[in-house]
Amino acid sequence: MSDSKIKTIAVLTSGGDAPGMNAAIRSVVRTGIARGLKVWGIQRGYAGLLEGAFREMDASSVGNILQHGGTILQTSRCPEFHQAETRREAVNLLKRKKIDGLIVIGGDGSFNGAHQMWLEHQFPVVGIPGTIDNDISGTEYTIGFDTAVQTAIEAVDKIRDTASSHARTFIVEVMGRRSPAIALHTGVCTGAENIVLPSENVDPSQIASDIQRGVKRGKNSSIIIVAEGEKPGLVSYQIQESLKKDHQIDAHVCVLGHIQRGGHPSAIDRFLAARMGYEAVERMIAGEYPVVSVYVNGHVGVAPLSECLKKRVESAPGHLELARTLSI
Ligand code: ADP
Ligand code: F6P
Repeated sequence: MSDSKIKTIAVLTSGGDAPGMNAAIRSVVRTGIARGLKVWGIQRGYAGLLEGAFREMDASSVGNILQHGGTILQTSRCPEFHQAETRREAVNLLKRKKIDGLIVIGGDGSFNGAHQMWLEHQFPVVGIPGTIDNDISGTEYTIGFDTAVQTAIEAVDKIRDTASSHARTFIVEVMGRRSPAIALHTGVCTGAENIVLPSENVDPSQIASDIQRGVKRGKNSSIIIVAEGEKPGLVSYQIQESLKKDHQIDAHVCVLGHIQRGGHPSAIDRFLAARMGYEAVERMIAGEYPVVSVYVNGHVGVAPLSECLKKRVESAPGHLELARTLSI
């Protein structure tokens, strides 16, 4: 047992599930136990925390999970956590359970909740980025992104078979309410003719001219990747309508939806989850909080939690240009 004041920790998953969350839970639990800590799992994110849904974890409670998608702790969205009074209740519950620190696996929303617990009550928190959106500042990578992109790529490859067999245009919608990452990577990796990013002014004439340019040089199929934006389906069907009405182009829409959130995590997601979980516990024990496990320049380390809450600046703005250049 170390002389750290952290003797007991809890871990929860929050927000959208992401492949690799289980591998991260396993890493947190086993690293904690290996370091002599008592480890609690909290069911259903912040909602379960408020309900007191704690379960004590041991090495075997995380056996045989790292290859599975989803999260054995389950997850939730908990609107009440936006209220300071609710967070006070949560911290009191943790203290009553003699829990000294909380590890939160989730996206920027979940990190905001954790940050408030630190600011308002100095409760030790450490974050692990788990979201398919890859939209957290301070890290080049979030757990689940690689698997989600791979799922989307496999789906688009299949759609391309039909598109080229029937000489059709497909609009394929991928996830990303505010994040362009899945759309950009899927577009580059599938040779999409056009990529529509969230909150971008959609220009159906540009999309039509990209399709027509391809047809002129002998392409018989086109794939347009659309990031879902605020309302799944909305932008994709608007583009379909406009291509038909204004450009006489028939396009089929395929909304990939939640298949991108599930499935066995890729090697990258498993490896990073293992590293990030380990790092999170080591830093918690060392008294370095509030921080987030991050991946930067090929290394896993930590960054201050406050840095990870800033708006993420897209690290590779050239991706769109890359996709356009390669799909001429
Ligand atoms: P993600 O963590 O994947 O970004 P959400 O944005 O849905 O997912 O956030 C997950 C949960 O985190 C929310 O349901 C809420 O309980 C909590 N949360 C989000 N934003 C805040 C905030 N600003 N203050 C406190 N809690 C928050
Ligand atoms: O944050 C992950 C994500 O999958 C986004 O890409 C998507 O917009 C959103 O969650 C959908 O969330 P849900 O369907 O769970 O409400």
